[in-house]
Formats: sequence, C-alpha cells, structure tokens
Amino acid sequence: MAKVLRIETTPFEDQRPGTSGLRKKVPVFQKRHYLENFVQSIFNTIGGLNGKTIVVGGDGRYYNNEAIQTIIKMSVANGAKKIMVGRGGLLSTPATSHIIRKYGLDGGIILSASHNPAGPEGDFGIKFNTPNGGPAPQKVTDAIYEETLKIDHYFILDIEEIDVSTLGQIQVLDTVIEVIDPVKDYVDLMERLFDFDAIQDLLTKKGFRMIYDGMHAVTGPYAREIFVNRLRAEKGCLYRCDPLPDFGGGHPDPNLTYARELVDMLYGDEAPDFGAASDGDGDRNMILGRKFFVTPSDSVAILAANAHLVKAYRDGLKGVARSMPTSMALDEVAHDLGIACYETPTGWKFFGNLLDAGKITICGEESFGTGSDHVREKDGLWAILFWLNIIAKRGKDVREIVEEHWRRYGRHYYTRHDYEDLDPDKAHALMDALRVRLRTLPGTTIGDETVESCDDFSYTDPIDGSRVEHQGIRVFFKAKGRVVYRLSGTGTQGATLRVYIERPTRDNKQLDQDPQAFLASLIHAASTLAQITERTGRSRPSVIT
Ligand code: G1P
Ligand code: ZN
Repeated sequence: MAKVLRIETTPFEDQRPGTSGLRKKVPVFQKRHYLENFVQSIFNTIGGLNGKTIVVGGDGRYYNNEAIQTIIKMSVANGAKKIMVGRGGLLSTPATSHIIRKYGLDGGIILSASHNPAGPEGDFGIKFNTPNGGPAPQKVTDAIYEETLKIDHYFILDIEEIDVSTLGQIQVLDTVIEVIDPVKDYVDLMERLFDFDAIQDLLTKKGFRMIYDGMHAVTGPYAREIFVNRLRAEKGCLYRCDPLPDFGGGHPDPNLTYARELVDMLYGDEAPDFGAASDGDGDRNMILGRKFFVTPSDSVAILAANAHLVKAYRDGLKGVARSMPTSMALDEVAHDLGIACYETPTGWKFFGNLLDAGKITICGEESFGTGSDHVREKDGLWAILFWLNIIAKRGKDVREIVEEHWRRYGRHYYTRHDYEDLDPDKAHALMDALRVRLRTLPGTTIGDETVESCDDFSYTDPIDGSRVEHQGIRVFFKAKGRVVYRLSGTGTQGATLRVYIERPTRDNKQLDQDPQAFLASLIHAASTLAQITERTGRSRPSVIT
C-alpha cells in the first residue's frame, strides 16, 4: 500500500525561474531535494493540488524519466484528483499547452531545457503552465521563487516506479494517473487549423520534396503522424526523427549553426524544395527553401500577410504581436492590414494576456518562435504546416514568396550576435555602463552611424497593468535602424549577451544583399558603443543568427 511521506527540507537560494522556467545543469537537479523543493513550491503557490488535475510531460531528455516519476509521486501525495502523463513521459511543449486547454486542466508541468544540449552533464529544466495553457506569468513565477526560499517540507509517495509506457488509467490513493497518447490530440488540432487536402496534394505531387529535421528530439513521433501517416509524404522526408535522451549529442536548436546538416542539404546539389526543423521540446522552428533561409522575423510577418489563405485564419486576424527585439517587418504588415501590432518583452509568457483577451491572433519572436491563439506556447510544427499551406495555396516556392513580400513591404535586414559564456560580472557591468550613458548617447557618431535616441525598454501589460522594467537597451540611429542589447535569461553557464541589429530598406535594388555586409556599419557601431571587446575580451560573437 502506497504511503504518503512528509520529508523535511531546507531552501535552495538559486531557484528563481528565468525567461522560461527553471533551467540548470543536470547535476544540480540531481541534488537531494532540489527538484522536489521546486515542485512542492509550485503546488503551494497554486493553493495546493487537492482535487486538481494537471498534466506532466517532457522532451525526453536525460533525467526526464526520473523527474516524471518524482512529480507523479508528489502529485498523488499532494492529493491531486488526476494526473495526466504523456506516454513514455513525452509531450511537446505546444501539445502540453493544447492538452491543458482541451481538458480544462488546472495547469501543467513541462520538463525541458528547450534547445539546450542534454545528457548527464547537459541541461534540464522545469516550467509550470497555468490553466490558460501558457507559461506562468511573472507574478506567478515570482511567487514560486518566494516559496522556494521558505520551503521546509514536501510530500511524496513511498512507492515503486509507476509504469508510464502503456496507455490507460491507474488509481493510486485518491488520484487517477492517466497515461495519454502524446500525439493524437495535437495532430487532430493541426488538422482542424490547416487545409490538409491542399498540403497533401503538394507533398504527394511529383517534383516537390521536403525534409523535416526532428534533431533527435520530441517532435519525431508528431512529424511521423502528421507528414507520413496523415499527409502521405514519403518516409524519406523524416530526418533524425527518433527521440534520444542526449539528442544524439547535438544541440537541438534549429538555426543556421546547429542545424548545419539540414542547411547543407538545402544548399546542396539536388536540394529539396522545403526544409524545416524544430527544437528539443517542439516549440521553435526554422524554415528553409532551396538555397534560401527565412529569418524568423520575416517568417512571422509573412504568415500574418498570408493568413487569409489558411482555413483557421481566413476571416482575418484580430491583431499581432512580436517581442521587442524581433524585427519590425511584422509592424509593416499590421499597418497594411489595419490591425494593432503589440511590442512585448522577450519571452512567450508576455503574449498570454493578449491572446486570452482576444487582442491578437498571431505572434512571434526573432528566436525561431512563432505561434497563434490555437495554444498558449510557440509552436514549431504549426509554423511549418502554415508555410506548407501557403506554398500549396500560392503555388510558389519559399524564395518567391519571401522576395515578393520584400518588394511589397520592404526588407528588414536583421541579425543577432550572441556572446556566450561571459563572466557574469563583466556582462552586467557592460549593461550597467550602457544604462548610465543613456542620456548622453544621443548625438554620438561612430563611423557612418549617429545615435538618434535610446532607452531601457519597459512594458506595461495592457490587460492587467503589470509592469516589467530593464527588458533590453534600445538604440535608434538617425539613418533608420536600431540595435538592442540584453542579457539572456535562459542560459545555465556564465552570461550571454545578445545584440540584435536591424535596418529596413524599401529600395528594390537593395533587396538581395548579404545581411552581415548590409548591416556592417551598424554592427561596428553596436560593438563600439558597448565596448564589447574591451569589456569582454571577445573580438567576435560566438553565434550569429
Ligand atoms: C530565449 C529567446 C526568447 C525565447 C526564450 C525561450 O530567451 O531569446 O525569445 O522566448 O529563449 O525559448 P533568452 O535566452 O534570450 O532570455
Ligand atoms: Zn523550445
């Protein structure tokens, strides 16, 4: 007979959630009581679990199984009415969001460190999503953190492993543990949103070829069901679609650096027509055409501009939103459509209220995240299906669609330079020094660039009035264009400085330049203004996207 144990514990000082939940190296999560303290703090924050139903799942990375067992045992010990678990402990982030919404749950726990590498020395993460299906807003994550500083006991069940490998229900004490199919509900939702007939015609047409790179992460089984079983594409379109606990040793971040093999295929001889990838937990996406890369900032703008071609969005969009550092390409489309475009801080949680209040339909971030009001997370496969739907309806290839878009709305040249694993003191000092100079920067000239204005971005949520500050330093230049500096809130090692650089042009003769070359003078100004080399010792970024 299972017994509820009350375990005495002491707080850890380092459990403050970042941009997207609590992320730490695996050995940190393996410390005695570490995961348990955080999970109990979540339960305490939401007023206990008594009589509640939650879902739990993860991206299958190293330590997923152990964490799932712990969370199930703690949920039962805390008196949950029901806990739903993805079979094998797997659930993509957007699928979890959908499950919470579809079944009207009290929340969900997602185990993932998204696109960060996995393995015994890799990263692990845990995130709580609220009943709207979205990541807990700042006031909830702050409350969880406060709780972690006070916690002195937690409850857990004294019981053997619970089998989560077969579908069905198990009753333990007052709790039903239900193992669910992680794929079906989500794929049914996709089928309702998109024109599967048109996409199937495209994918089975002679001459059209696509490759989907699952990066050995959670989306493999979803992609198999969608592309092969339902849309009848050839099996050969699935690349790295078997989930592995260490993601095959890779870095499951779909960008030009970490999805190199896919990029090489799309830029090689006999390249397929369409290439796409998703990240560790399935919320990010990268879109490629033959010898062509679509920047995420352009992608969200193009989805908005073409949304009327897609079943679920054919009646128009309520509004759109982008995170502040995302390029302003989306603003041009919103202006043209006569709808609002909101500018939010970095992180999906800031879109939640706007989506819930029906202010926006589509939103996105420059960091390979795109989504809509169908769930409350960004959604990789959703974005990929959206693109296929547009290609099928317009009968044009990726490059043609993007270039036409630029001719109509102008092109926003864009690049992000990341300086990873910096000494945190030096990184903070760099940001502080910029902040101190905010008043004096306007008028400063560096090479061809003169600063027009600058600020430290703050945001007041238009729905609940909550306010956040210090969300990134923005510098606007006289010759149009802007640079944004901020420190990452998702890293687990050192600090990462992100520098976002953007310049729009409406000159049709300037649409086919290399972004690094087109932006060279802004890139130089960005690094000089912040004294990046002097302050960090780095002469170039570690990753450019
Ligand atoms: C990064 C991205 C951000 C995204 C988050 C979670 O956060 O920049 O847009 O929402 O990952 O995927 P950061 O490390 O910059 O705080
Ligand atoms: Zn992710």
